[in-house]
Amino acid sequence: MATNRTFTMLKPDAVEKGHIGAILEQINSSGFRIVAMKLTQMTQDDARIFYAVHKERPFFGELVEYMTRGPIVAAVLEKENAVEDFRTLIGATNPDEAAEGTIRKKYAASIGENAVHGSDSNENARIESAFHFSGREMF
Ligand code: RTP
Ligand code: MG
Repeated sequence: MATNRTFTMLKPDAVEKGHIGAILEQINSSGFRIVAMKLTQMTQDDARIFYAVHKERPFFGELVEYMTRGPIVAAVLEKENAVEDFRTLIGATNPDEAAEGTIRKKYAASIGENAVHGSDSNENARIESAFHFSGREMF
């Protein structure tokens, strides 16, 4: 299952700017099926846990503030080669380095506020999906 699924969040900046519809349209038209989806808001504890791998980095405090300041859209996506293909679709972490046409190139303001999250491995896709959704919701 996990090999064909990835996890995404449309981050607070993308939601604030009204880009939910456009980004979901691009995700769908790129061949991803939405398996589970919800509008939700992360608590500071949620964000600290979700991004715990970055807890020693200088930007960690800013990242937690950013990710909790407003609603996000969390979703599980299905497609062959989902993890890698979705990272290609969103583009580089820094929008200045993201390829033309990618979601971050189009909608991200900066390396910190970059519109969208994509899992970086099959294992993290499974862990992150389970963080936001129950098994029942992902059928
Ligand atoms: P994500 O996990 O959100 O999909 O992003 P990513 O893999 O492309 O980048 P990652 O290195 O995992 O960083 C996670 C998020 O932290 C923020 N960040 N800020 N100010 C900075 O230098 C900086 N670097 C990273 C971004 O929101 C990034 O997406
Ligand atoms: Mg990452």
